[in-house]
Amino acid sequence: MRAFTFSTYKTSLREADIPEPIMGEHDVLVQVQAAGVNQLDEKIRIGEFKQILPYKLPLTLGHDVAGTVLRVGAAVRGFRPGDEVYARPRDHRIGTFAERIAVDEADVAPKPSSISMEEAGSLPLVALTAWQALVEIGNVQRGQKVLIHAGSGGVGSIAIQLAKHLGAEVATTVSASNAAFARELGADHTIDYRNEDFEQLLSGYDFVLDSLGGENLEKSLRILGPCGIAVGISGPPTPDFARSAGLNPVLRLAIAGLSGKIRKQAKRLGVDYRFLFMRASGEQLREISALIERRAIKPIVGRVFPFDETVRALESLRDGGLRGKAVISSR
Ligand SMILES: NC(=O)c1ccc[n+]([C@@H]2O[C@H](COP(=O)([O-])OP(=O)(O)OC[C@H]3O[C@@H](n4cnc5c(N)ncnc54)[C@H](OP(=O)(O)O)[C@@H]3O)[C@@H](O)[C@H]2O)c1
Repeated sequence: MRAFTFSTYKTSLREADIPEPIMGEHDVLVQVQAAGVNQLDEKIRIGEFKQILPYKLPLTLGHDVAGTVLRVGAAVRGFRPGDEVYARPRDHRIGTFAERIAVDEADVAPKPSSISMEEAGSLPLVALTAWQALVEIGNVQRGQKVLIHAGSGGVGSIAIQLAKHLGAEVATTVSASNAAFARELGADHTIDYRNEDFEQLLSGYDFVLDSLGGENLEKSLRILGPCGIAVGISGPPTPDFARSAGLNPVLRLAIAGLSGKIRKQAKRLGVDYRFLFMRASGEQLREISALIERRAIKPIVGRVFPFDETVRALESLRDGGLRGKAVISSR
């Protein structure tokens, strides 16, 4: 079948003819109709994740899928051929930039009927990230003050909507040209990150979703009130993460070193810093589906590329300037 793979870190994706997916008894075989493009795909391609996610090369990229079930494994109970589904296949089983993929049924949910395949394909990774940050870690409550960084991006555009749904007062950092867009998504306050300093404008926040790291994360800690939480999705990773990811002792030590400074800063300020590396979950996707069907969250698809232009789709992430997600469509 056709797929987009790379054989050496930092080299471009290229089209390849690869074997059909091997099905386990808990797997569903999905005909890929749409695949969201994520920064994680690009980071894996350039080798940024080779310690944490040691993939064998050549590797087919792609972490999001929407499509139709073709076949199910012997132990699958929840899906049948013909079902329309979406998923973020778990780590080490990615590869949605292909015609078909076998996905563990625990990672799959029925596709919300009110949205297109392309919209569904845009959602799993970013929506699960927003859910795991705001609901699972942050336990964000009505009336709390929440800052979402990069509100016009893939994660940010969903996180703003989820935070509003949870009843929070939401601030977000965006380019000036995206301020109106962020307000349409529900943001109460927009901060033009190129010309304004969010640290001078915000204080007493309960929760920050930081997708930038570095100085942005340090400042984010300083706008939190007592016991506030900052969730970092661009790092630095923490010892808790290293432990739960089962990393070896050398890597664990390195990771402890990477986040030592920010963890100390958080402790001094009486706030919490948590690193999130999102994980696959069909169960949480079902909760997200319910919010989609109730129109509490709408997918934001900035651009659709045909399957033949998968290489260009991945390159488009480097260009920036997109609202929401780039999606590859096989239809
Ligand atoms: N750890 C995890 O589980 C996880 C999960 C998902 C994503 N991530 C990471 O999170 C980051 C964001 O992902 P994404 O998919 O949302 O990326 P994206 O769709 O490419 O969005 C990036 C956005 O960042 C904005 N931006 C750039 N510089 C900024 C700044 N200084 N302040 C505020 N906004 C700024 C841009 O907004 P404007 O156009 O408005 O300038 C752009 O829309 C990536 O590094 C990704 O790898 C991690």
